[in-house]
Amino acid sequence: DQTVVRRITCVGAGYVGGPTCAMIAYKSPQITVTVVDMNKERIDAWNSDSLPIFEPGLEDVVMKCRGTNLFFSTDVPEAIRSADLIFISVNTPTKMYGKGAGMAPDLKYVESVARSIAEHAQGPKIVVEKSTVPVKAAESILSILEDAQRRSNNNLTFQVLSNPEFLAEGTAMRDLASPDRVLIGGEDSEEGQRAVAALVNVYASWVPRDRILTTKTWSSELSKLVANAFLAQRISSINSVSAICEATGADVREVAKAVGCDERIGSNFLNASVGFGGSCFQKDVLSLVYLCESLHLDKVADYWNGVITINNWQRRRFADAIVSELFNTVAGKKIAIFGFAFKKSTGDTRESSAIHVSKHLMEEEARLAVYDPAVTEKQMRQELVMETSEKSVNKLVTVFSDPYEAAKDAHAIVILTEWEEFKTYDYARMYNAMSHPAAFFDGRLLFKRKDIEAIGFHFFGIGSAPSHLSEVGYIL
Ligand code: UDX
Ligand code: UDX
Ligand code: ADP
Repeated sequence: DQTVVRRITCVGAGYVGGPTCAMIAYKSPQITVTVVDMNKERIDAWNSDSLPIFEPGLEDVVMKCRGTNLFFSTDVPEAIRSADLIFISVNTPTKMYGKGAGMAPDLKYVESVARSIAEHAQGPKIVVEKSTVPVKAAESILSILEDAQRRSNNNLTFQVLSNPEFLAEGTAMRDLASPDRVLIGGEDSEEGQRAVAALVNVYASWVPRDRILTTKTWSSELSKLVANAFLAQRISSINSVSAICEATGADVREVAKAVGCDERIGSNFLNASVGFGGSCFQKDVLSLVYLCESLHLDKVADYWNGVITINNWQRRRFADAIVSELFNTVAGKKIAIFGFAFKKSTGDTRESSAIHVSKHLMEEEARLAVYDPAVTEKQMRQELVMETSEKSVNKLVTVFSDPYEAAKDAHAIVILTEWEEFKTYDYARMYNAMSHPAAFFDGRLLFKRKDIEAIGFHFFGIGSAPSHLSEVGYIL
């Protein structure tokens, strides 16, 4: 039966491939899942007691299945040969060179996997793109595979499906165990629909059938970009409103609550912040903008580009507020940065707003004292060196493992990630050990203005106006 999958291989053992395959292996004991990666260090880590990524619940699942029906290996050719179905789950970072630099996703890793499949496959394969790729990428993958098919004498056949992943970091296992939907795009032909049915069967072991959507390949590819663009747009929308609130005396939390109560709008994803980060939102919005430009849909490109403009502006605006509240000069002043990850419960720093705020402050020669509960010092330094220079990182950045030490003698505390533990600190104790006047900048709506002001801090919070404005209201 061609719609029953027995052996799955996933190329790319990262944030998407690792957890996804662990979940498939866990839910489908009859399927053997092999995850391969060219990065040996990463595979070694997957085979060790300390997995290369942290996700609540992941370790449990990996320990239950590893060695039974879940395997991690660097032998890409063998894993390709033995599989019925191959996930491509490699990185697609924004291209930094040539045509589309700074906008288009770089497909060189996806293409290299397609070439490996073309080289090593000996029988029929269903190839599934999981990485976020631009619309019509399946076509390029298929061209490479069909060329191999034409040149081979044996019974090579390929079907290419699109099956984007919607998991968020920190909740990956929960998102995988009970997804809002699983999306599978394929060709309309009989062979195409057979391949779609095979992948539907894989998910159907644990996902209710009405949550498995099947579409045309292009709809599936486009939906992934659009879903991330809508989510990013909500954050930019509420962040744009936060600026109005700061200038007028409204409170963005109150506005978000009131607006979100409308069922048509919904209350999730309306937290104003210092700007969204993470490996997906910016990359996918830029990829959508690039697609629109390529299609000569300039007005549409401008519309979505506004999401990025506001996000960059929000980061800059927050850094500028810090400088301005500290009497327009931060040169030589110690500033405690709390949080470097792009969101709580992860050590991931990709595109974190903390990098950009830090960079702006370093340009003003502030001395940064950084603390994050999950990000390693090496990682922070690497990110900052890429945005500034080794020299200025060495001169201006110190990484602390104790938040109280980071705050000692500092002129300000700056909250950049919404870690729960930040709410539990003794800020009066910190205040007493700081330089005075001491300021507090909340980039994540973690604190109430009046609580922090009661300690003695000058307070600046995203989306809430200084007391004199909130009391009298704004008079035009
Ligand atoms: C709207 C708001 O819904 C309501 O809460 C507010 O108090 C007044 O403005 P209304 O203008 O009566 O109400 O109609 P609504 O159903 O919101 O539709 C407004 C327009 O949007 C219509 O032209 C409608 O056809 C259009 N629309 C709505 C779309 O084009 N697509 C949609 O998905 C929804
Ligand atoms: C996102 C999508 O949620 C997920 O569906 C997709 O598969 C990958 O991209 P992720 O990047 O892991 O997931 O994190 P997410 O929780 O979406 O947060 C992204 C950024 O937006 C973070 O920096 C977060 O702090 C910020 N954010 C989120 C806000 O600033 N306000 C909000 O209300 C929500
Ligand atoms: P994502 O967040 O999309 O999962 P990651 O960067 O975490 O992305 O993981 C992608 C993985 O894909 C990396 O571990 C990388 O080494 C691997 N990879 C990229 N290209 C290839 C390739 N041609 N063959 C095998 N592995 C690859």
